[in-house]
Amino acid sequence: MVADLAFFQQQPLDRLNTLRLPARARFFARAFSEPALRYILGSVTAHNFPLYILGGGSNLVLAGALDGLVVQPALMGRELITMQGDTALVRVGAGESWHQTVLWTLQQGWSGLENLALIPGTVGASPIQNIGAYGVEVSDRLHSVRALQISTGDLRTFTADECGFAYRDSIFKSQVAGEYVVIDVLFKLNTKPDLCLDYGDIRGELARQQVSRISPMAVAQAVMAIRSSKLPDPAQLGNAGSFFKNPTVSVEHANSLKQAFPDLVAYPNAQGVKLAAGWLIEHAGWKGYQQGAVAVHDRQALVLVNHGGGTGAELLDLAAKIRASVNAKFAVELEQEPIIWQ
Ligand code: EPU
Repeated sequence: MVADLAFFQQQPLDRLNTLRLPARARFFARAFSEPALRYILGSVTAHNFPLYILGGGSNLVLAGALDGLVVQPALMGRELITMQGDTALVRVGAGESWHQTVLWTLQQGWSGLENLALIPGTVGASPIQNIGAYGVEVSDRLHSVRALQISTGDLRTFTADECGFAYRDSIFKSQVAGEYVVIDVLFKLNTKPDLCLDYGDIRGELARQQVSRISPMAVAQAVMAIRSSKLPDPAQLGNAGSFFKNPTVSVEHANSLKQAFPDLVAYPNAQGVKLAAGWLIEHAGWKGYQQGAVAVHDRQALVLVNHGGGTGAELLDLAAKIRASVNAKFAVELEQEPIIWQ
């Protein structure tokens, strides 16, 4: 056994996923260093176990016992690598908390991540689904990602371009899914703030808080207030944030929907028109709907919640009904956002 590695058998995962779904891992390892991570990944390759990489468990649906090895990379550390003009290049370990990292960068005087405050999860998970909120995606602030190739143990650096970022997507979810484990992320942050205030109600919230000097930290606080007002805190109520992506449809499809539903929430984009999935779900009648212990959140219909005691199968059943009903009413296919492990 190597140092920096905690290893368990039949590990309950209930507390390691923010939906609080019950599941067990046959083997579970937490790696506190890169050598420990390389060692445990080597053992997986040797034994050919199914492998699951766990971050903060905040974008995950556990739908059964996992007859394999769950590895949680707990690689910590945050450091300034260089200053280039107004740009700070900052390296952060995959195991660090995303939100604590956002606050730390702001305290250092480096802006760029303020709109992404209060997103649950770890830094290592942030590039996988290209987390985003209030007009900013992590891909806008990311320089590169270092990752271990599971089959060889080699370290590879992916530039932001090589990550193939798109809306809630990257190559880590598609072309190279299951092949790499993120070690750390290099961010490019600014000493001269370039604030993004025009999305959602950021300006309204800053006015409500009577902020006279709009600093990056003030923007983070506004975002935190807005998120807290509509998104449930996973520490209080099990959830995985948005359960579906906002779908993009053709301009013709959006126009015909707009005629039938004049208050449809829709934003034109390069591919067509993006629709607010929360609006579609609410107007298909699901907001606040409860089925056993699982439910559609009563303040944000895009969020499914577990009131306690719900299972992954129950949640996926509810999600399937919502998807079918939205499809029947609006002819729109919803795509699930969280990853399913079963
Ligand atoms: N809406 C409704 N009913 C609802 C929910 C939303 O009508 O029940 C309407 C709102 O009134 C608004 C529009 O839909 O006009 C958009 O709602 P909101 O601003 O709450 O954002 P969202 O599109 O539902 C997305 C992200 C969130 C992110 C927010 C803010 C996705 C899938 N979700 O939600 O990300 O925090 O924008 O930028 O893109 C996440 O991915 O887990 C997540 C929380």
